[in-house]
Formats: sequence, structure tokens, C-alpha cells
Amino acid sequence: MTQDELKTLVGQAALHYVQPDSIIGVGTGSTVDKFIDALAASGIAIAGAVSSSLRSTERMKALGILVLEASEVESLGVYIDGADEIDHAGHMIKGGGAALTREKIVADLADSFVCIADESKLVEALGKFPVPVEVIPMAAAQVARRFAAMGGVATLRPGCVTDNSCHILDVTGLQIAEPLAFETEVNQWPGVVTVGVFARHRASVCLLGTAAGVKTLSF
Ligand code: 5RP
Repeated sequence: MTQDELKTLVGQAALHYVQPDSIIGVGTGSTVDKFIDALAASGIAIAGAVSSSLRSTERMKALGILVLEASEVESLGVYIDGADEIDHAGHMIKGGGAALTREKIVADLADSFVCIADESKLVEALGKFPVPVEVIPMAAAQVARRFAAMGGVATLRPGCVTDNSCHILDVTGLQIAEPLAFETEVNQWPGVVTVGVFARHRASVCLLGTAAGVKTLSF
């Protein structure tokens, strides 16, 4: 199966976690696009969706799915999103699509995080994928220096302006042995909006697309 087919498979499998008449949280990316398409085709009537990006909002609206503001809900049963990397404890690197801050905000509203990913995303330890960090533009150079002091190399993502009018640094060369400690530390640096390590908001479940079908990992 191709990677695209695996994404379609897990996008469809995620429908199992959608309760009719509920409001759900919806992430961002090519895997989530498959989920949105599957949801629209499924005929499952939901009360609405809170979106993590303008990209997902546009796709859902075009398919007739009601999109609600995060401020309109107090909580969500489930948040469904992809990942750039996920480890065996459900910690993730996210933000390849530059939507990490809104993704963390919507994940924070949800009781459970269902990660949908093809098997290439499962790793023993986080850090091969460059860690995206959303920064206030004025802070980018200083945040990059802080990463350099940790042994990382931070590169400004060319031409990228986030939905929050901020910039993205992609950081390579990091050893992320303790994802929660790393996330907590980096989030404290002035000018960091969000670091793309999701440890506090790790996945509850991962639906992993494999050649043998969808494997469910529970954390
Ligand atoms: C966007 C994300 C995505 O979930 C992540 O990049 C995975 O994307 P894809 O499903 O296209 O592989 O974090 O900010």
C-alpha cells in the first residue's frame, strides 16, 4: 500500500471515534484531510467541529461540516489529528503543517487525542523530524541561539507565516530523551508561542496505518 492509501485507511478508521451529534476537534494535514473526506462521506451527523487551522476549516466548510469557534465550546470528547512523529508512549512531534499552536489549543479542550498516522511516523525516540517551533518574529534569532546552546540548529521556515501571523523555526540535531521536560523548558522561553513537542497533550490512542491494516496503539 502507498503512504497515501495508508492515510486514507486511518482517516476512515477514525470515524469509529466520532459520536453522532457530538462536537469534535479536527487537526490539520494530509492525513486529516482524508479523515474530513471520510467524515463528510460517512453520513454521520455531528453537531460541529472545532478546527485547528484555516486549511481544515475551508475543507470542512466546503463539505458542509459546521465549523465552530474554540470559544464556543467548553470541552470536546475527542480530538483527531495527525503527527510527524509518534513514540511508543504517545508523545508526538507536530507542526509540519505549521498549525501546531491551534492544534495544541484544540487538543487541550479534548478528553482524548486520537492520532492518525501511517507507520512511517512511529519512532523509538523523538527528534529525527525537525522540531517545529512557532515564534514571535522578533524573538526568532534569540530562540535560535538558545537551541544552538542545546546543540540544535534552528532554521527559519522560508516564506512561512502561521495562522497567528508568527514564524516557524525548524530545529534539527536535538536529543529529546524526556519530551515533557523538553516541552516545558522551551515553552518558557520569551517569544516562543508553542513548541511542536506534544507531551503534555500526548495521544491517548494512535491508529497506525500498516501494510497489515490499522493497528491500534493505546497509551
Ligand atoms: C500540522 C501537523 C500534522 O498533523 C503533521 O504535519 C502530519 O501531517 P501529514 O498528515 O500531512 O503527514 O502537525 O501542523
